[in-house]
Amino acid sequence: MADYKELGLVNTRNMFKKAMKGGYAIPAYNFNNMEQLQAIITACLETQSPVILQVSSGARKYANQTLLRYMAEGAVEMMKEMAKEKKLKEIPIALHLDHGDTFELCKSCIESGFSSVMIDGSHHSYEENVALTKKVVEFAHKYDVTVEGELGVLAGIEDDVKAEKSTYTKPEEVIDFVSRTSVDSLAISIGTSHGANKFKPEQCARNKDGILIPPELRFDILEEIEKKLPGFPIVLHGSSSVPIEAVKMINENGGKLKDTIGIPEDQLRKAAKSAVCKINIDSDGRLWMTGTVRKVFVEKPAEFDPRKYLGPARESLTEMYKLKNEHVLGSAGKA
Ligand code: G3H
Ligand code: 13P
Ligand code: ZN
Repeated sequence: MADYKELGLVNTRNMFKKAMKGGYAIPAYNFNNMEQLQAIITACLETQSPVILQVSSGARKYANQTLLRYMAEGAVEMMKEMAKEKKLKEIPIALHLDHGDTFELCKSCIESGFSSVMIDGSHHSYEENVALTKKVVEFAHKYDVTVEGELGVLAGIEDDVKAEKSTYTKPEEVIDFVSRTSVDSLAISIGTSHGANKFKPEQCARNKDGILIPPELRFDILEEIEKKLPGFPIVLHGSSSVPIEAVKMINENGGKLKDTIGIPEDQLRKAAKSAVCKINIDSDGRLWMTGTVRKVFVEKPAEFDPRKYLGPARESLTEMYKLKNEHVLGSAGKA
C-alpha cells in the first residue's frame, strides 16, 4: 500500500474548498507521456496553480498504470527542484484516476498511491450508480483519498469514454446521490462532451466568417444543482475549447479534421466562477501537440530525432496550459 501523502501528493479536498471560495477551478489535465507531464508541471509551477494530474483507462492501456504512477511521483520531485531553482512556492499536485469504471480499478489505484479517483457509474442505472459509488467512497475514505462521482451522461466518441447521446444531470437527483454515497465531488452533464467534435454542425449557428458557434451550456441546470447542494464541488468533463488556431495548424500541415467545435472559453470562465471547482481538459493538448509535430514534419522533412518534434510540441503545450490557468480557469497564483 503506497501512501500518497508520503509521495508528496495531496487529495482534492482542500483544493476544492479554496477554489469554491475563490471563484476559480482547478485544472485537471490528462497525461499519457513524459512531454505532456513535463508541460503540465512546468506551466502550473510557473503560473503557481494547483493541479490535478489525470490518468484515464486509455492512458493506463497505452503507458501502463505503474509507469504512470512513478512518473507522477517523479513529477512531484521535479516540481520541488524547479521551485527551489526558480525561487517559487511549491504547488499542490493531486494524482487522479479519470473515468474509473469498476471498484477493483479504483482500489488498485488507491493502493498504488493515487490521491483521488473518479468512479464513473453514469452508464449504470441510478441505483447501481449509487451502490458502486458508495462502495468506492467507503474504501477510499479509509485512506483519505477523495472520490468524484458522476450523474448524467456526456455525449462523446473517445476510445474508452463512449456515449451515443447525452442525458443532462437531473437536479432532483443530486441531493439523494451525494448524501447516500458521501462522494466528495460530482461530475455533471450540462452540454459538454469529450473529444474535438462536441456538437454537430446542425446544432450550431455560423458567424459571418463561417465559424460554428455552439449552443450555450445549460447554466440553468448548473444553477439548480448549486441551489440544491450549496458549497458542494462540481466537476466539468469535456471542457476543451478546440481552438481554431490548433485545428488550422493540423489541417494546414496535412491533417483532415472536420467540423471541430469546443466549449467557448468565456463559458468555461463563467463556470469556473461558480461551484465548478474542477475542469477537465485533454483534447486541446492533443490538438496542439499534433499540430506542432505535423508542422515540424512538413517544414523539416529530414528531421528524425524525436526530441526535435516532441520538444516543440512540449513547448506549445506548456504555453497552452499557462494560458488556461491564467485566463480560463483563474487558477494562476492560487497554489
Ligand atoms: O475523458 C476522456 C479523456 O480525454 C481520456 O481519454 O481514454 O482516450 O485517454 P482516453
Ligand atoms: P476533452 O475531451 O474536452 O478535453 O475532455 C477531457 C475529459 O473530460 C477528461 O476526463
Ligand atoms: Zn471525462
